[in-house]
Amino acid sequence: MPSDASPARVPRHLAVIMDGNGRWAERRRRPRVIGHRAGARAVQNCVDFCIEHGIHALTLFAFSSENWGRPEEEVGALMKLFLNALEREVEELHRRGVRIRFIGQRERFGPAIRARMDAAEATTRANDVLHLTIAASYGGRWDIVDAARSLARDVAEGRVKAEEIDEAAFASRMALSDLPPPDLFIRTGGDVRVSNFLLWQLAYTELWFTETLWPDVDAATLRQALADYAMRERRFGLTGAQVSASFPPPPDLGTDE
Ligand code: FPP
Repeated sequence: MPSDASPARVPRHLAVIMDGNGRWAERRRRPRVIGHRAGARAVQNCVDFCIEHGIHALTLFAFSSENWGRPEEEVGALMKLFLNALEREVEELHRRGVRIRFIGQRERFGPAIRARMDAAEATTRANDVLHLTIAASYGGRWDIVDAARSLARDVAEGRVKAEEIDEAAFASRMALSDLPPPDLFIRTGGDVRVSNFLLWQLAYTELWFTETLWPDVDAATLRQALADYAMRERRFGLTGAQVSASFPPPPDLGTDE
């Protein structure tokens, strides 16, 4: 356990926007795909870090709904990288007790990648050391619309009454519904925005931004984020006095430990 982050305040669920791969490569006058490859190595380090620090869930934004609009060559290179990573890494992650899942519009990927995604999920489904979720062809607005569509279908077919729809019913149909919401969100690469990632799930998440480009992120960067998180007072809409008197947080948000 690092000395600058109290073990009692380690996030249970970490969500990351891994930004800056392209700039990392451009600064070295290399093609952008080299940056994505370096980014894939940083993913391995981040997974190692989470396992070592007892972080229970890690959700990574690997490819947004909007990323399909990038130049064909870059999208193709990223697809190849995802396929290779799925071929190479799944067995080792499984051995280490990592459960792998994907959220997003899976039908937009080609059959080879979809088959690997399905197989990775099936192989690792009973694991519980780290819940690794890869957001791929994912958008927070899509996630909300998808949940709304599922509820609308159930109302139309008489399984749910419109007046029964509350936040819990909605949340149960969103991606990551079986995990606690992210405690800590990290965005690398210097931009200070959420960019259509987990819009519903981040409602009370602590946000942390760094200029560091994703391929340069190492254990020291992640320790810094954890140390900052450990200092935050999470109030969940209550007053500071209530929180320091150990007023319990709303039940759906759980405790902070
Ligand atoms: C954003 O950087 C990053 C991406 C769009 C791709 C993320 C992919 C990886 C980290 C590689 C592999 C991931 C897995 C899960 C195997 P950017 O290209 O937008 O960087 P820029 O802002 O500098 O252009």
